[in-house]
Amino acid sequence: MARVALVTGGTRGIGEAISIALNTAGYTAVANYGGNDDAARLFTERTGIPAYKFDVSDYAAVESAIAMIARDIGPVEVLVNNAGITRDGVMHRMTFEQWNAVIQTNLASCFNLSRAVIDSMRERGFGRIVNIGSVNGQSGQYGQVNYAAAKSGIHGFTKALAQEAAAKGITVNAIAPGYIDTDMVRAVPPHVLEKIIARIPVGRLGKAEEIARTVLFLVAEDAGFITGSTISVNGGQHMY
Ligand code: CAA
Repeated sequence: MARVALVTGGTRGIGEAISIALNTAGYTAVANYGGNDDAARLFTERTGIPAYKFDVSDYAAVESAIAMIARDIGPVEVLVNNAGITRDGVMHRMTFEQWNAVIQTNLASCFNLSRAVIDSMRERGFGRIVNIGSVNGQSGQYGQVNYAAAKSGIHGFTKALAQEAAAKGITVNAIAPGYIDTDMVRAVPPHVLEKIIARIPVGRLGKAEEIARTVLFLVAEDAGFITGSTISVNGGQHMY
């Protein structure tokens, strides 16, 4: 039976590419989304991949959604914690709401989702968890104390959970994308984005599919010895 692979934020941007790549590779892909119903409907029409709407920052909502997916489709054996938002602003103008929204959506979500699937992964003796971090969690970023803190937290979360889960056949890894050509990056002011691209040795933004292929590598059946690692996919922008 094909393994069920859940991708949070899986109907748009990097997540969409990951959902499609998993589906094409023979997994039973399931996408989560938070708000954009139209994008999710079009995504499902186009790909045939079911989309479940729930807020990844809401522990109780995640718990019941995972139970529903298990009933509808099967237990999640591959989890990609991809959902993320930005609320950029310099510290001296950042509000508590900007801080908290990013910490809850980008970091607390990793706890919420992983907690909801870990018992069944442990029982089955198999699991693959991939957390999408960021170059900005590795290097910091002007205007992103919230985002850099959350993404940096993901890298610590990954290493701690990898140690706990290893004995049960569960691997936990992170990918640190650089600037990928998505709506999120296109929202960066053009004069800023120009400077950022000038600092990427490969000379361009990354493609969502370039992150998706890294996910496929990490979740493969024969990737059981890779755990607690972070793979940077950033065009050489930051060599960690
Ligand atoms: N890298 C380099 N320089 C940056 C920068 C960045 N990421 N962000 C801002 N700066 C520079 C600007 O170029 C500008 O320099 P100059 O005065 O020399 O032109 C200076 O900082 C001030 O910037 P603004 O004029 O834009 O100031 P502002 O107060 O109006 O806005 C800001 C500040 C909200 C931080 C805005 O600059 C901004 O949104 N910056 C983008 C921050 C960013 O990189 N976000 C990443 C989003 S994508 C993502 O997060 C995905 C991922 O994982 C990689």
